[in-house]
Amino acid sequence: MKILAIESSCDETSAAVVLAGKKSGVKKLSNIVSSQILIHKKTEGVVPEVAARAHISKISRVVQKALKDAKTPLESIDYFAVTNGPGLVSSLLVGTEYTKGLALALNKKVIPTNHMLGHLYSAFVSDPKIKLPSVNLIVSGGHTYLILLTKKNKFKILGSTVDDAAGEAFDKVAKMLGLAYPGGPEISKWAKKAKKKGFEDYAFPRPMLNTKNFDFSFAGLKTAVLYKIRDEKLNLKNPQTKANLACSFQEAVIDVLVKKTIRAAEKYKTKSITLSGGVAANKLLRKKLASASRKIYNKFYVPDFSLCTDNALMIANAAAIKVQGGFKPVKYTKLKVNPQLELK
Ligand SMILES: Nc1ncnc2c1ncn2[C@@H]1O[C@H](COP(=O)(O)OP(=O)(O)OP(=O)(O)O)[C@@H](O)[C@H]1O
Ligand SMILES: [Mg+2]
Repeated sequence: MKILAIESSCDETSAAVVLAGKKSGVKKLSNIVSSQILIHKKTEGVVPEVAARAHISKISRVVQKALKDAKTPLESIDYFAVTNGPGLVSSLLVGTEYTKGLALALNKKVIPTNHMLGHLYSAFVSDPKIKLPSVNLIVSGGHTYLILLTKKNKFKILGSTVDDAAGEAFDKVAKMLGLAYPGGPEISKWAKKAKKKGFEDYAFPRPMLNTKNFDFSFAGLKTAVLYKIRDEKLNLKNPQTKANLACSFQEAVIDVLVKKTIRAAEKYKTKSITLSGGVAANKLLRKKLASASRKIYNKFYVPDFSLCTDNALMIANAAAIKVQGGFKPVKYTKLKVNPQLELK
């Protein structure tokens, strides 16, 4: 089956085409991503209406390019997949309404797909034979999940964040430090310039590191950075201070993420560990989780950098896995947007 997937949940307009087997196997034919980062840099964050308008102006060209790269005429697409949540409602509506139009015109069924399911399976795009059970850490702009995957289509959420997502904390701390949007890549860039003696002096807390559950919390850590700057009257014009703060914050986040993931893998005796979501682009997190996984004899998987942040290929892949697991594609009239769609 050929699936054309559309992703527009936040600030990337993306379309991808895959060829998938009935029971297994997903082959990428194309993946086009049009990012709005330059637009949102000006406002240091995403303005929903601006994002939706940008999706509208790009979506047709992005879909046409995805079909052209896949050398596939629209008529030979079997199913249309689309992200129907979670995300910004106005952004989600652009992708879903566009998909409805295609499905109506071509009389084809649709596969509504949870954006987080896309992130969850994104490590499977290049490594479809990941050994299960696996524990999967998803760290994105809006979510933080630890998930146990026992079969390809069977998973259990072990924990999630009780407040801010890891990516959100990166973005907010970057803002405090006066760094550009999006904050995650900026924090990691500045952290590289830190001096060991300097950043170790800050030693931020490791929230919920020792709780028995697998939940996370990053809001307190973000506030700890704010109070440190305020109470110690730190001079953020000094590049070394900025670098040391960025590094100390990054170390605290990574420490909690790695230790809790490893603890989950040990408890559930997994064979593999996967890392995905936008924060998975962080090189230090990739390196530390890879090394910790090896120590407990788990194979470590992380998607290519281009598949960490939002893209339609991960949605096409997740949609194919859903159908291969028995999901029946639905009529376009059944397609509903839910900005708070839960992962189940
Ligand atoms: N190198 C990096 N280090 C840390 N964080 C990073 C890095 N690169 C990107 N990020 C963070 O990744 C996040 C974006 O990821 P993603 O696109 O998956 O999020 P989203 O789609 O907005 O949210 P969600 O998937 O939860 O709906 C941002 O918070 C960004 O700062
Ligand atoms: Mg995302």
